[in-house]
Amino acid sequence: MKLFLFIGLFAVSSNAQQERRFPDDFLFGAATASYQIEGAWNVDGKGESIWDRMTHTKPHLIKDMTNGDIAANSYYNYKRDVEMIRELGLDAYRFSISWPRILPNPLAPYEVNQAGVDFYNNYINEMLKYNITPMATIYHWDLPQKLQDLGGLLSPMFPEWFEHYARVVYEKFGDRVKLWTTFNEPREMCLLGYGGDEKAPFLNLTDIGTYYCAKNLLLAHARAYHAYNNDFKPTQNGECGIVINISWIGPLTDSEEDNYAAELKRQAEWGIYAEPIFSEQGGFPKEFAEVVAQKSIEQGYATSRLPELTEEERKFIQGSFDFLGINHYTGYLVSANEYKTANAVPSLLDDADVGVYISDDWLPSASDWLKMVPDSLYNLLTHLKDKYNNPPVYITESGWSEVPETGLIDDERILFYRTALNNALDCLEAGVNLKGYMAWSLMDNYEWIAGYTELFGLYEVDFKSEAKTRTPRKSAFVYKQIVKTRVIDPDYEPTDMVMTIDEGH
Ligand SMILES: *[C@@H]1O[C@H](CO)[C@@H](O)[C@H](O)[C@H]1NC(C)=O
Ligand SMILES: *[C@@H]1O[C@H](CO)[C@@H](O)[C@H](O)[C@H]1NC(C)=O
Repeated sequence: MKLFLFIGLFAVSSNAQQERRFPDDFLFGAATASYQIEGAWNVDGKGESIWDRMTHTKPHLIKDMTNGDIAANSYYNYKRDVEMIRELGLDAYRFSISWPRILPNPLAPYEVNQAGVDFYNNYINEMLKYNITPMATIYHWDLPQKLQDLGGLLSPMFPEWFEHYARVVYEKFGDRVKLWTTFNEPREMCLLGYGGDEKAPFLNLTDIGTYYCAKNLLLAHARAYHAYNNDFKPTQNGECGIVINISWIGPLTDSEEDNYAAELKRQAEWGIYAEPIFSEQGGFPKEFAEVVAQKSIEQGYATSRLPELTEEERKFIQGSFDFLGINHYTGYLVSANEYKTANAVPSLLDDADVGVYISDDWLPSASDWLKMVPDSLYNLLTHLKDKYNNPPVYITESGWSEVPETGLIDDERILFYRTALNNALDCLEAGVNLKGYMAWSLMDNYEWIAGYTELFGLYEVDFKSEAKTRTPRKSAFVYKQIVKTRVIDPDYEPTDMVMTIDEGH
């Protein structure tokens, strides 16, 4: 009888596990970005980027006064990086291409830097040798300084500059790269770089910087998408999308006011980038556009601080995607009246003038903005499924930061990944068209203005060592096990911390 019961239970639990399985074609990967790992900032003809300029001339803006001059030195360590991807048994690797490494003089059409092209060729070929799918980000924040001097994303010329650069990378790498994303995280570039003081180029043009940047970015994205779609896709057969950092933003209570406040905040935070591309009608989100227009007039501006899209522009941008890339880390709740902070100047924060609530119960990471928020991925992806007619989605970043002292035993990161991936399974069961998941990050790297104080790596990098030695953390073994079995086993514990490459990788 006892034995019978035991077998019965076992069958039930193994059945349940079989149901909770990632499909074989689900793309598991890890992600990085050029400036955060490559180093070699002035080597082999590379030009200066806005992050080179900012960290060199204003080091006090960085928490630990550091920069990405060397970082994880992946320019020289790329074979080791690919070896790590093989150790983890990953299907894909998301990396970014450095614009100033490819076009040190971004306005001279024929001056492609061959050494830069060689570097990415070697990197990509090393991945393909082991059946690792490359997913390339065309732009991940390292704008050539020369273009910033000419206005950067605030220049109406920006879309043309970007299309030119995108065409160069399609031409050089598109025979082998089949998954392209134009921009990484518009919000962080526009709100924090042009409209704020947290990212290069640090312009802090709070009233209009964010919005002019958003318009030019959308036009640039659409030009790069259409260039691919018309002139490269017919022979290269790849796909092109955009990556947006989207937190789950929910209402604090069920009241109508809080629901409206949450919607307004969603429109302000990510809707201004997503809505023009992914919604059926296109254009900037309606309610938020109306609020900004009205406030602008009250504040004495001649027109809305959020620029108009012409009918032609709206149509050009709408539908310019093959998939949606989402960087997802966290979430928060919004109230119409409570938890408000004073916003002294005209800005996006003042335009969506709502309160933000973060619960003390949510586990904090090493980054002040990153808490473990229950079901945030599920809430977000099911929301987007309904809103945008279930587009193909990749989670292009998702991860957890720890302080350097945490070392190799990173149990909170393991909890984060297991929780997020369980949510990913819930999403698949709910019919979300979720095609892959990229962990941020393959290894520790330069975390922008946080320098090397907040670490996200599955592999620890010893930044003090000449070799920038990489060592797998406990989370690397757990992630590997999930990727291999396609099942999340909550009890799996790595028996030793010895990493090897499994057969077939
Ligand atoms: C950016 O602008 C805001 C609003 O005017 C101001 O409070 C803040 O101090 C500025 N930041 C810097 C670094 O000047
Ligand atoms: C993503 O967005 C949130 C706000 O929604 C922000 O706090 C966070 O810093 C962003 N994360 C990244 C990695 O850009």
